[in-house]
Amino acid sequence: MTAPLATTPTDQADRFFSWLRAVGVVLPSCAIKQNQPGERLRVAHTALAAAAADRDCGAVAPERLALVPVTQQHWPTLCRLRVRPEQEPFVPPPLAVLRAQTFDPANPSDVFAIELDGRPIGMFTSKPRRPNLVWFAHFLVDQSVQGRGIGRWAFQSYLNMLARAGFRGNVGLNVHRDNPAVIQFYSEQGFSFDPTNDVGEHLGMQVTLPG
Ligand SMILES: CC(C)(COP(=O)(O)OP(=O)(O)OC[C@H]1O[C@@H](n2cnc3c(N)ncnc32)[C@H](O)[C@@H]1OP(=O)(O)O)[C@@H](O)C(=O)NCCC(=O)NCCS
Repeated sequence: MTAPLATTPTDQADRFFSWLRAVGVVLPSCAIKQNQPGERLRVAHTALAAAAADRDCGAVAPERLALVPVTQQHWPTLCRLRVRPEQEPFVPPPLAVLRAQTFDPANPSDVFAIELDGRPIGMFTSKPRRPNLVWFAHFLVDQSVQGRGIGRWAFQSYLNMLARAGFRGNVGLNVHRDNPAVIQFYSEQGFSFDPTNDVGEHLGMQVTLPG
């Protein structure tokens, strides 16, 4: 039997919300707390317009972004993030990070989620290696929102966070030798090659944070 047609504004709003969810539009929680059906529809249309604008690939406004320490609640979403197929050799999947955190708790990294409008869309890890060296790794942004300035914002925020915490040593990382765009990106941030940390196909890079 087919469902009865929506007749009241409340029905229409509920159907619209169901459809938005079905096509993968994530609404801000304020949108679903609205009680007035007319207001709920207006908010839903606004959210839909914002989602459509997202697909237009403009730069993302920094006020929509946040770096937050990962909690248990983040992992189901983080484990669904995907890089482009050709980027898969460059970074382990988030599940591998979760496994390492779970099965090697004596050697933990700090894991950060990059949030867009409160939704995790990327991540990275940071780990002290020596008193004057922290190691940056597992950096990824979901393929759906790459190329919009989020990675650059997250990386600069990370370096600022270290500086604000009073860290004055070196930041090191490995980058795949076949990932020239990202090598260029790190070079622009002041990183230079550090062959003492080359590992297989991955080149070592390092920068010294100013004192
Ligand atoms: C690296 C990564 C996190 C950057 O995130 P992002 O949100 O796409 O980055 P931005 O939009 O801020 O772009 C930052 C710079 O990255 C470079 N870049 C990254 N990936 C690129 C690609 N596939 N093609 C071209 N440039 C790329 C560009 O130089 C860009 O600079 P621009 O803004 O001057 O063009 C993302 O591309 C990613 O997840 N890549 C796959 C995983 C990976 O390679 N991680 C790095 C491990 S060391």
